[in-house]
Amino acid sequence: MASTPLLTLFLSVLFTLNSFPAPSFSCQPHQKQALLHLKSTLAAFINSSPDLDSWNMTSDCCSWQRVYCTETGTVGELNLSSLVPPRGINLVPLYSDVLTPLFHIRSLVALDISSNSLVGEIPGDGFGNLTKLVYLDMHENRFSGSIPSQIWRLVNLLYLDMSFNLLEEKLGPELGSLRNLTTLWLKRNRFHGLIPPQLFELGSLQSLDLSDNQLEGVLSPEVGKLQNLEYLILKANFLFGKIPEEIGNLIKLREFSLQNNKFFGRIPSSIVNLKKLEALDLSENSLSMQIPNSIGTLPNVTAVDLSDNTLTGPIPSSMQNMSKLIILRLHNNMLDGEITTWLFKIITLMELFIGGKGNNLIWNNEAKIVPNCNLMLLSMSSCNISGQIPEWISSQKDMRFLDLSNNKLVGRFPDVLADRKLEIIIMS
Ligand SMILES: *[C@@H]1O[C@H](CO)[C@@H](O)[C@H](O)[C@H]1NC(C)=O
Ligand SMILES: *[C@@H]1O[C@H](CO)[C@@H](O)[C@H](O)[C@H]1NC(C)=O
Ligand SMILES: *[C@@H]1O[C@H](CO)[C@@H](O)[C@H](O)[C@H]1NC(C)=O
Ligand SMILES: *[C@@H]1O[C@H](CO)[C@@H](O)[C@H](O)[C@H]1NC(C)=O
Ligand SMILES: *[C@@H]1O[C@H](CO)[C@@H](O)[C@H](O)[C@H]1NC(C)=O
Ligand SMILES: *[C@@H]1O[C@H](CO)[C@@H](O)[C@H](O)[C@H]1NC(C)=O
Ligand SMILES: *[C@@H]1O[C@H](CO)[C@@H](O)[C@H](O)[C@H]1NC(C)=O
Repeated sequence: MASTPLLTLFLSVLFTLNSFPAPSFSCQPHQKQALLHLKSTLAAFINSSPDLDSWNMTSDCCSWQRVYCTETGTVGELNLSSLVPPRGINLVPLYSDVLTPLFHIRSLVALDISSNSLVGEIPGDGFGNLTKLVYLDMHENRFSGSIPSQIWRLVNLLYLDMSFNLLEEKLGPELGSLRNLTTLWLKRNRFHGLIPPQLFELGSLQSLDLSDNQLEGVLSPEVGKLQNLEYLILKANFLFGKIPEEIGNLIKLREFSLQNNKFFGRIPSSIVNLKKLEALDLSENSLSMQIPNSIGTLPNVTAVDLSDNTLTGPIPSSMQNMSKLIILRLHNNMLDGEITTWLFKIITLMELFIGGKGNNLIWNNEAKIVPNCNLMLLSMSSCNISGQIPEWISSQKDMRFLDLSNNKLVGRFPDVLADRKLEIIIMS
C-alpha cells in the first residue's frame, strides 16, 4: 500500500489528491510512459528500489508507490526522495538530466527529488514545463550553478527547498515573483551578494532559511514587512550592520537566528514584542551594550544564545521569569556583576554557559544554593569560584559536561562527581 504523502497534508487545503491505492480511474498513457522511462534511466544507477518494483507496464500508474494522482487521473504528486543511495566519490555521478522524462508530466503539483546526490545544473527548461508546481523539494543534492530563471516563473509555488546543494551566484530580483511563497529554504549553498530587496515583498513567507551561505550587506529594515514569518534563520553569512528595530514587527516569529554574522550595535529593544519567540540566537556577532532587561517578558522562550559578542552589564533580572528556559548561553561577552542564584531556580534549565573569555561574572563563594534545575551542561569558567567545588554542583544528577576552568579551586574532586559519567570535565 502506498504511504500517505506528507505533502498531501500540506496541500490538502488547496486541492484533493488521491492518496489511496486501488483508484477507480487509470493514469494517462503518456504519463505512465514518462514514469517508466524515468525508471529505466534510473535503473542504471540504482541496484534495486523496492518502491519502483510496482512501476510496471501492466499496472495503473496511479497505484504505484511514490506516485499520487488527482481525482481526474493525472499524476499530481511524485515523491522521488532518497531513491538513489549516497554516491561514493568513486561512483559514476548521476547527472540531473536523468530527470528529463519528468518534465513531460506537466500536471505535477508536488515534486520531491531530495536526497539523491544529483549532479549538474538544475534543468531550467524542464522545470519551466512544470508550471503547476506548488511544492518543490530538491534539498540535499549536488546541484551547481545558479538557480535558473524558469524556477522563478513557477508562480504557483508555495514551498521551495533547495538547501544543501552547491548553488552559487547572487540571488536576483526575480525571486520577488514567487508572490505566494510560504517556505523558502536555501540553506547551505554558496549564494553570495546582497539579499535582494524583492525578498521583502514576499509577504506570505512563514519560513525563511538562508543560513550557511556567503550573503553580505545589511539586513534591511524592510524585513519588518514579512509579518507572517515564524522562522527567520540567517546564520553563518557575512551580514553586518545593526539589527533593525523593525524585527519587532514580526510578531509571529518563533525562531530567530543571526548567529555567526557581523552584526554590531545593540540588541533591539523591540524584540520584546516577539511574544511567540521560542529560540533566539544572536551569538558570534559583535553586539554590544546591555541585554534588554525586558527580555524576560517573552513567555515562551526555551533557548537564548547571546554568546561571543561584546555585551555588557548584568544578566537581566527579568530572566528569572523565563519559566520555559532550557538553554542559556551568555559566555564570552563583557558581562559583569554577581551570578545571581535565581538562575538555578529555573526548573527547566539544562544548559548554562556563563563566564568565559571577557565576562566578569562573579560567583559568590558564600552562596549556599539548592538548585531547582537539573543541568546537563554547565560552563562557569573564569567566574572567580574559589575553594572547594561548590556543593550544589554534585546535586546535578544528569550532568555530562562541566567546565570550571580558570577559577581558584582547591581540594579534591568530590567523589559524588567522580562517580558520575561526566563525559567532559575541564578544570585548570
Ligand atoms: C517523500 O518520501 C520520503 C521517504 O519516504 C519522506 O521522508 C518524505 O517526507 C516524503 N516527502 C513528502 C513531501 O511527502
Ligand atoms: C506490476 O505491479 C503490480 C503492483 O503495482 C503487481 O501487482 C504486479 O504483479 C506487477 N506485474 C508484474 C508483471 O510485475
Ligand atoms: C515540456 O513538455 C512537452 C510536452 O510534454 C514536451 O514535448 C517537452 O519536451 C517538455 N520540455 C522539456 C524541456 O522537457
Ligand atoms: C496568490 O494568492 C492569492 C490569494 O490567495 C491568489 O488570489 C492568487 O491567485 C495567488 N497567485 C498565484 C500566482 O498563485
Ligand atoms: C506559548 O506556548 C503555549 C504552548 O505551546 C501556547 O499555547 C501559547 O499560545 C504560547 N504563547 C504565545 C504568546 O504565543
Ligand atoms: C516577573 O513577572 C511578574 C509578573 O508579570 C512581574 O510582576 C515581575 O516584576 C517580573 N519580575 C522581574 C524580575 O522582572
Ligand atoms: C574573588 O574571590 C575571592 C575569594 O573568595 C575574593 O576575595 C575576591 O573579592 C573575589 N573577586 C571579586 C572581583 O569579587
